[in-house]
Amino acid sequence: MSLNRKFCVAPMMRYTDMHERFFLRLITKKAVLYTEMIATGALIHGNCDYQLDFNKEEHPVAVQFGGSSPLELSKCAIMAEKKGYDEINLNIGCPSERVQKGNFGVCLMLEPELVAECVRQMRRSVDIPITVKCRTGVDDNDDYLFLKSFIDIVKDSGIKTFIIHARKGILKGLSPRQNRNIPPLNYEKVYSIKNDFPNLEIVINGGIKSINEAKNHLNYVDGVMLGRAAYDNPFMLSEIDSEIYSNAKTDISKKDLLSEYLDYVHLMTEKGYDPKIMLKHVFGLKKGEKDAKRFRVKVTEVMRSPSLVENKDELLSMV
Ligand SMILES: Cc1cc2nc3c(=O)[nH]c(=O)nc-3n(C[C@H](O)[C@H](O)[C@H](O)COP(=O)(O)O)c2cc1C
Repeated sequence: MSLNRKFCVAPMMRYTDMHERFFLRLITKKAVLYTEMIATGALIHGNCDYQLDFNKEEHPVAVQFGGSSPLELSKCAIMAEKKGYDEINLNIGCPSERVQKGNFGVCLMLEPELVAECVRQMRRSVDIPITVKCRTGVDDNDDYLFLKSFIDIVKDSGIKTFIIHARKGILKGLSPRQNRNIPPLNYEKVYSIKNDFPNLEIVINGGIKSINEAKNHLNYVDGVMLGRAAYDNPFMLSEIDSEIYSNAKTDISKKDLLSEYLDYVHLMTEKGYDPKIMLKHVFGLKKGEKDAKRFRVKVTEVMRSPSLVENKDELLSMV
């Protein structure tokens, strides 16, 4: 499957699980979807293969790994390729303390040679594309030359695609959440990378809230990646196929979407998945509408009730 990363939905721990991705795929056929980060240690030592599970409907879908051992990453890459993923993304952006302790995530921006080696080993092991998601810098290493040199060294591994969260990461004193809000966005730096490396595919990420904003960025870079805005207002993605990809619009109404997803939740509940985790993904379905809150309250009620089937009609009557 060839990947067109003009519009991507960002990896988000506890949010972009397989159910969220199934839900989003009902809304857009084209956007590239990313899994939550999976630590290589969990797959190799933790007997956590289930973390790689996904629905066949999710394609195009990329798995994101966090790790810094070229050998472990290449083993995980082989597992992911066997599972059928379309891309492997390496997380060089996460600033959490747990991730720093494991010596991966954004602190690896300080070790571009190691990142290049990780990518090289994975490229040797699999045929699917490898991509890197990084930030614009880390701590005081935040001038343009630092970023340019990181990209320059890592690209020698043969990698073609970088996803750049347009703010630096701060290793000490900020929580991951603060690290997504406090360091200022600097889109110009990402545009400059595209200018300086025109043969690389550059995807911009961070603070993009609407399709119009996304389209504007596409004047300067190859792709956009949205995280929070896509989660909070998933139906916004119904515009993507026509507006970004010039494809036919995925013409699904909110009612049909919810109906189809609730059937999925019912089926997956019978297979042992937790309906609460699956249902939270519909919270944003009525974002911006005046009875959005009433809908969220009802969804919360359904999460607590033993029967989804009995509540389906009432939920559908609200959209
Ligand atoms: C709840 C949450 C979890 C996240 N988990 C990950 C993750 O697992 N891997 C990753 O690379 N980025 C993660 N991120 C960062 C997003 O991928 C993205 O870079 C960031 O939110 C900025 O984009 P946005 O402003 O469009 O949300 C997470 C963000 C949020 C809000």
